[in-house]
Amino acid sequence: MKPYNIFKSCAFKFDPESVHDFSIQLFNKFPQFAYPIATKTDKRHQLNAGGMTWKNPIGLAAGFDKNARALNFLSNLGFGALEFGTVTPRPQKGNPRPRIKRFPEDSSLLNSMGFPNLGSKVILKNLKTTSSYNDSAIGANLGKNKDTTDSNAPSDYAFLYEQFAPHVDYLTINISSPNTPGLRALQSREGFLEIASEVSKKRESCLRPLYLKIAPELETKDLEDLVNIATQFKFSGIIATNTSIAHGRGKGGLSGEAIKEESKLARLKVLEVAKGPRDLSVIGAGGISCIEDVVDFWKAGGDFVQIYTSFIYKGPGILKEFSQGINDLLAQTGASTLQEWKDSL
Ligand SMILES: Cc1cc2nc3c(=O)[nH]c(=O)nc-3n(C[C@H](O)[C@H](O)[C@H](O)COP(=O)(O)O)c2cc1C
Repeated sequence: MKPYNIFKSCAFKFDPESVHDFSIQLFNKFPQFAYPIATKTDKRHQLNAGGMTWKNPIGLAAGFDKNARALNFLSNLGFGALEFGTVTPRPQKGNPRPRIKRFPEDSSLLNSMGFPNLGSKVILKNLKTTSSYNDSAIGANLGKNKDTTDSNAPSDYAFLYEQFAPHVDYLTINISSPNTPGLRALQSREGFLEIASEVSKKRESCLRPLYLKIAPELETKDLEDLVNIATQFKFSGIIATNTSIAHGRGKGGLSGEAIKEESKLARLKVLEVAKGPRDLSVIGAGGISCIEDVVDFWKAGGDFVQIYTSFIYKGPGILKEFSQGINDLLAQTGASTLQEWKDSL
């Protein structure tokens, strides 16, 4: 049995969040533990998109390292980028536990966490102690506090942008998590317009690549509105997608293999709307678990990808699988770098 499967057979006997919290503590204390299981990045896998360069195209999606406590470990492991958060201005506890459920039969997770996090002040401090020798791109995923009213939401996002922008490579406006009441309603034209306009004032003094993370269930018309606003305010792109609420498995957002098809269709829709004259970059997330998923996404016009649930089920070896997949792709196509191959599509 592979070492990660041995770990999993033991860890999966416990509450998912307790195992997660324990692992984050270990990662925080011993970032060097990543080296024996790390995937060394091949220089040929470097990719540029949306105003950023990632050492390889595989990022870790938001929600795994909510408080930016394990960035060095995760970078050592070989991720091309790490998106910490969701961070809210003030600390908050999130919804009552248990709030993560595993579905091993189809390698999926259901979470109803509601942005538990230590708040911007502590997370900024964590970030400053970890970012100095890290060679992954670092992203900050921003959200509003649960008790912030809709009308005050734009100031939460603007405040967070101002706090984090000088210390990260990119930022993400998250208005698509299903576990903060009313948050997804901010994906309306009016809701997003106010946020984008408030945040753009802060971008005048510190311009960083900015992304919007969307839900997989958006109608084409709503998507067009969001993409138009993102283009108007010079966002770098869209992250598609967050977890899905289109399931019958209980409260919360579903992720992993169970949303692969839905998320993929949403990504294709986003690519159709966001590319062409608008030319926003699209980062793929949602059910991505193998190189074939990534190559399909690239052929459809996508750029970087992020994983979360497949990392839980497959472990750090998944980064080796992706790396090998890219090597095979280069060998088959004769391209000397991933960038060269992508540019030729
Ligand atoms: C336990 C858990 C917590 C998450 N927390 C966040 C979060 O705080 N902010 C966010 O934008 N996405 C969050 N996500 C969503 C992921 O970033 C990702 O968009 C989603 O899980 C789809 O990718 P996947 O199928 O590879 O997991 C969370 C996902 C899981 C499973």
